[in-house]
Amino acid sequence: MSRLETWMRVNPVREAVQRWYAGPLLRRLGGTVEGSRVLEIGCGHGVGVDIILGQFGAASVDAFDLDPDMVARAQQRLARHGERVRVWEGRVTEIPEPDGAYEAVFVFGVLHHLPGWRAGLTEVRRVLKPGGRLFAEESYAPFITHPVWRRLLHHSQEDRFDHEALLNELRTQHFRLRDQRRMGGGLGWLVADKA
Ligand SMILES: C[S@@+](CC[C@H](N)C(=O)[O-])C[C@H]1O[C@@H](n2cnc3c(N)ncnc32)[C@H](O)[C@@H]1O
Repeated sequence: MSRLETWMRVNPVREAVQRWYAGPLLRRLGGTVEGSRVLEIGCGHGVGVDIILGQFGAASVDAFDLDPDMVARAQQRLARHGERVRVWEGRVTEIPEPDGAYEAVFVFGVLHHLPGWRAGLTEVRRVLKPGGRLFAEESYAPFITHPVWRRLLHHSQEDRFDHEALLNELRTQHFRLRDQRRMGGGLGWLVADKA
């Protein structure tokens, strides 16, 4: 990961946007997850886990990230939550949990990193209970494939998706959309239930 990419994940502006915009918006779209066992994929340095506990009322949160540096930062940030939080180094395509393990899964800007984003979504679906809820914030093709960002950031460029394509894939994978928002073509939020 380049220094710019690390900075884009770990900076006070991203943290404030996630905490004061994305969290409250997702809660308006999908409600809380009081008392639930929750998973966050691609947790970065752990701000999302704080939000899921504090704003959504989860009982416990499991979280993982591909990047060992992010995992170490998240573990340090979240240590005060004790056994309510577990953070490990791992991949979206191989979640080490049985089918239906979680009542909710949170995705803050991760699917667009996956070369096989549909397979990532399938794995997320697998670990959700029937009726379990997916909360997602995603960046879309117009941002990912923009010539400037393409040069600066290492995103997979093949088969990128926009808001409509993500909604279509959710339908194909038998999710039921609860609500959604988009900002221009580059950014979107949605909440959907595993049918
Ligand atoms: C744009 S960052 C978002 C981080 C954090 N969720 C946030 O909103 O600040 C994407 C994160 O996904 C992680 N990631 C990318 N591919 C992954 C994979 N296959 N499995 C798990 N994590 C992955 C990256 O290491 C990075 O921390």
